Amino acid sequence: MGSPPRFQAPTGTLDVLPPASARWEELLALFAITVGRAGYGLVINPMFEDIGVFLRGIGEGSEVVTKEMYEFRDKGDRHLALRPEGTASVARAFIQHRPALPFKAWYATPAFRYERPQAGRYRQHHQIGLEAFGVEDPELDVEVVSLASDFYRAVGLRQVSLKINSMGDEQCRPAYVELLRAFLAERADQLCDEHRTKFEINPLRVLDCKRAECIAATERAPAITDHLCEACRAHYGAVLSGLDDLGVAYSPEFRLVRGFDYYTRTTFEFAAEALGTAQNAAGGGGRYDGLVESLGGPPTPGIGFGMGIERLLMACDAEGAMAGSGPGLDAFVIDVMGGRRATLIAHELRAAGLRVDRAFDGRSMKSQMKAADRSGAVVAVIIGEEEAAAGVATLRPLRGDEEQVKVPRAELADAVRRMGAGKTGEKP
Ligand code: HAM
Repeated sequence: MGSPPRFQAPTGTLDVLPPASARWEELLALFAITVGRAGYGLVINPMFEDIGVFLRGIGEGSEVVTKEMYEFRDKGDRHLALRPEGTASVARAFIQHRPALPFKAWYATPAFRYERPQAGRYRQHHQIGLEAFGVEDPELDVEVVSLASDFYRAVGLRQVSLKINSMGDEQCRPAYVELLRAFLAERADQLCDEHRTKFEINPLRVLDCKRAECIAATERAPAITDHLCEACRAHYGAVLSGLDDLGVAYSPEFRLVRGFDYYTRTTFEFAAEALGTAQNAAGGGGRYDGLVESLGGPPTPGIGFGMGIERLLMACDAEGAMAGSGPGLDAFVIDVMGGRRATLIAHELRAAGLRVDRAFDGRSMKSQMKAADRSGAVVAVIIGEEEAAAGVATLRPLRGDEEQVKVPRAELADAVRRMGAGKTGEKP
């Protein structure tokens, strides 16, 4: 193939081309349908924000902010950052536009994090997610968690497990953090290199540390769910019993401390068991009842989740889910008289709702037939001199063993549909 191209996609990014991108289309359509049924509407946000949105929203001490943010100054000397996630910008937009409550929104967005690239970990990844503002009721937590769970099932994933925890609130968390800090202080020498010296700053991060030393040292650490205030305990209990009533399986996990500072009360994470343990987080989220206020808005509770599209598709590969190549072509038009007739027929059939392609550059019949075979279309529509003179077209099935037939031009779209085509573009 000669020398490698001069320009390649930046490290840690991915090009997704057709036909592989058909699965992205399918996934997005399925997500829109699943959450649309629960009243979530699409929100579209800028890819970059004033850096303060992320500093104050996600937290200045969080790893995503301190180590991974793509930040820059524009020509007007504004300090901006590419969004590392979706929630803080949706909260910013919520405050700016004050939509009616409850405000339920979903999104599909790239997210940028300067991470060490590896399988399933990118510097630009893509998330589908949702956020709901203005409701404190634990029934909303149940709705949000079960929508995520329903979506995995709709995609065909069976080996996705759910971990759930409560982070408490400003009433009960500070006392728990003190308790944890004291517990860790007694075992500081057993912690990993990073946390031995840093555990005091944010002891909760130690619970999330994946290094063996920290995991061993915190095995008997106090669990936050044993130290919740009355209101948080009642909330957590209602969420768990709601999930029980819906038959959503979960395991409580006191170590589940997610990487952003905005979380309060319910937090959850879905793991794709079919993937290796390193990159098996297929989605996660939680409540953030203080986020809107921390960005300068009125006190407003909120909850949501995000899922990595690349991770979802990796899990699909591992489980053999969504194996279909997505919607293909219904018909491929073959015209050996210059191509104008193919233009007209393709236009007519597309107007009738069919997915149609054709060849260009006046190629030979043989070469066009090859292209038709390669295209994956269900049927070839052939128009030669004889057909043109008689006002018909020949329909030749490209799969199965049906005979080819001649059909009057006016009946072409119906005939293509009858041949089994025309179903490829249907919504799931
Ligand atoms: P997160 O857990 O950081 O949460 O990201 C959500 C999902 O995005 C992860 O579970 C994973 O599937 C995927 N993901 C994250 N980082 C990468 C990466 N570097 N490469 C590939 N995939 C990745 C959030 O972003 C929160 N905004 C979720 C949320 C919404 N919480 C409340 N509302």
